Amino acid sequence: MRFLHYPVMNREVITVFADTDKQLFIDCTIGLGGHSYYMLKNFKQASLIAIDVDNESMAQAKNNLKKFQGRVTFYCLNFIDIFEKIDLTGLPVSGVLVDPGISMYQLREQGRGFSHSLNSKLDMRKDKSIKINATDVLNSFTEAQLIEIFEKYGELEKPKELAKKVIERRLFGSLDTSFKLKKIVEQVYGKKIRKGKVHPAAKVFQALRIFVNKELEGIDVFLQKIPQYLQAGAKIIYLSYHSIEDRIVKNTLKFLQESQKINIIKPFPMFPSRDEILENPASHSARLRAAEVI
Ligand SMILES: C[S@@+](CC[C@H](N)C(=O)[O-])C[C@H]1O[C@@H](n2cnc3c(N)ncnc32)[C@H](O)[C@@H]1O
Repeated sequence: MRFLHYPVMNREVITVFADTDKQLFIDCTIGLGGHSYYMLKNFKQASLIAIDVDNESMAQAKNNLKKFQGRVTFYCLNFIDIFEKIDLTGLPVSGVLVDPGISMYQLREQGRGFSHSLNSKLDMRKDKSIKINATDVLNSFTEAQLIEIFEKYGELEKPKELAKKVIERRLFGSLDTSFKLKKIVEQVYGKKIRKGKVHPAAKVFQALRIFVNKELEGIDVFLQKIPQYLQAGAKIIYLSYHSIEDRIVKNTLKFLQESQKINIIKPFPMFPSRDEILENPASHSARLRAAEVI
């Protein structure tokens, strides 16, 4: 089976979950079903709760996982809301995987606006029921609000210059496509990318995406609550793709370890191998943190 999206650090995920009783797994961010496919293939007795906030991705995952029909239950929701939407009491949960961010499908799909390499409408909502999209933010937010978004979620240099340029540009018509935004970014930061660095537009797009989807809200609460629904020995795996999110995960897991709810499996995050990065360059920023419920 070929996926449009390589399941990142799949070998590490399977190795960590292999050391459980492999009854029931929760994939909080099923995407195209890459990780889940290998979990269901490797752990033949296991069933799976599959969650994603994006119903288009979920439709693809359903198709990719159709040979495991009967073992998977799908829920289209934000995993942060799992405790209100799914009754987990008494379920024999052996492992929980969180792999948020965006899938290759979302990056490459016209009309989503997640990528600065593809000209598209700037939407950036994973969940289409969210009221404000990236175009609304760029065209109606104040300079101070834009500065805060660029600083807080993109950790960008020169956030004031960038916000100023956005405000100036929108006087000449709606700033509503990925290439219009990329052009402004290049006016502020230049077109040249230093060796080993990502294009500055990547950080600007990341900042807007995090803000539009409220990506960092509730991660700490989710991680604090989930262990109480898991059996002893169950594993929690969280893959982050930027340091802002990884910091929240790291600090929350540390707090849970100090409260004797979990044991962190390795004190440092695991990173993708050189071979994996060569095969799938998009995996380069991944960090995997894993913990065992006590
Ligand atoms: C990196 S992809 C997951 C890829 C998946 N592990 C695979 O191997 O195919 C991220 C997915 O997480 C979903 N997602 C991100 N944040 C979410 C959230 N808070 N709740 C539910 N789904 C979320 C996105 O819509 C996207 O489909």
